[in-house]
Amino acid sequence: MSEMSKVTYRIRRYDPNRDTAPHYETYTIDYTPGLTVLEGLWLIKETLAPDLVWRASCRMGVCGSCGMLINGMARLACNTQISDLGTDQLVLAPLPNFNIIRDLVPDLMPMLSTHQDLHPYVVRDDVAEQEEPTGEYYQSIHDLEQYLQFSYCIKCGCCMAACPTVATDPTYAGPMPLGQVQRYNTDTRDGGFEVRKEAIAGERGPWRCHYAGECSRVCPKGVDPAKAIQLLKRQMVLDVFGLRAKKCPSKLVGKPKDAKRRNGIPEAPKPTV
Ligand code: SF4
Ligand code: SF4
Ligand code: FES
Repeated sequence: MSEMSKVTYRIRRYDPNRDTAPHYETYTIDYTPGLTVLEGLWLIKETLAPDLVWRASCRMGVCGSCGMLINGMARLACNTQISDLGTDQLVLAPLPNFNIIRDLVPDLMPMLSTHQDLHPYVVRDDVAEQEEPTGEYYQSIHDLEQYLQFSYCIKCGCCMAACPTVATDPTYAGPMPLGQVQRYNTDTRDGGFEVRKEAIAGERGPWRCHYAGECSRVCPKGVDPAKAIQLLKRQMVLDVFGLRAKKCPSKLVGKPKDAKRRNGIPEAPKPTV
């Protein structure tokens, strides 16, 4: 592709108050080196289509708001350089597998309420300690490494949009909520395996995952939900045969003398898919 001076966005538009069906509209803007897909959307809104709607906040790949389908792949608009797409022709649509609120805004609530149903937090009996902490729950660096990668999830929904099982089976919880089940099940401070096991019983749970790996391929944070789900299946099979290593939620330790000392926290491993 020769040096880009313009870039064309073909955007799926839909306003339920005005349109009977979605349609595409085309906008051409000046390209400047370093322009992200999200910045291009702002230019379009400011100069060509003030009623264009999308969702974004942080502009730095952290809040998880700006997931959309960009040239056929679920990505974060803020995290996508136009120059990396290898074309000056962009086609944008809202994330598949979600209902559409308007234009590029998907309704993420079904994913988030499933996530909420699956106890995405440390579950323990010592409620009083959690309300009025007197110390810290012990966790070694090795313990942290077991779930650190899964904890980078920003709930953007890109994995849900890419998953063929989510596309065909509305009862399946999907890679984002199930990946987070494994994240908490693996946390040594947690004792919630049994309550989460109940919550993912049946069609909702990991058995519907065919390990196509698309969720991990598109994940912008390297979370690798496909791996998390296979580890969850393994944990559940071992549990059926009474072979799951039952971890006790870790004990309290005193507060560290120097609370700022946090050396040696490891990098997240690379995705396997
Ligand atoms: S697993 Fe990755 S793609 Fe899925 S919601 Fe989390 S950050 Fe987004
Ligand atoms: S690995 Fe499982 S959760 Fe991920 S895309 Fe494939 S079927 Fe969906
Ligand atoms: S705007 Fe926050 S992740 Fe893109």
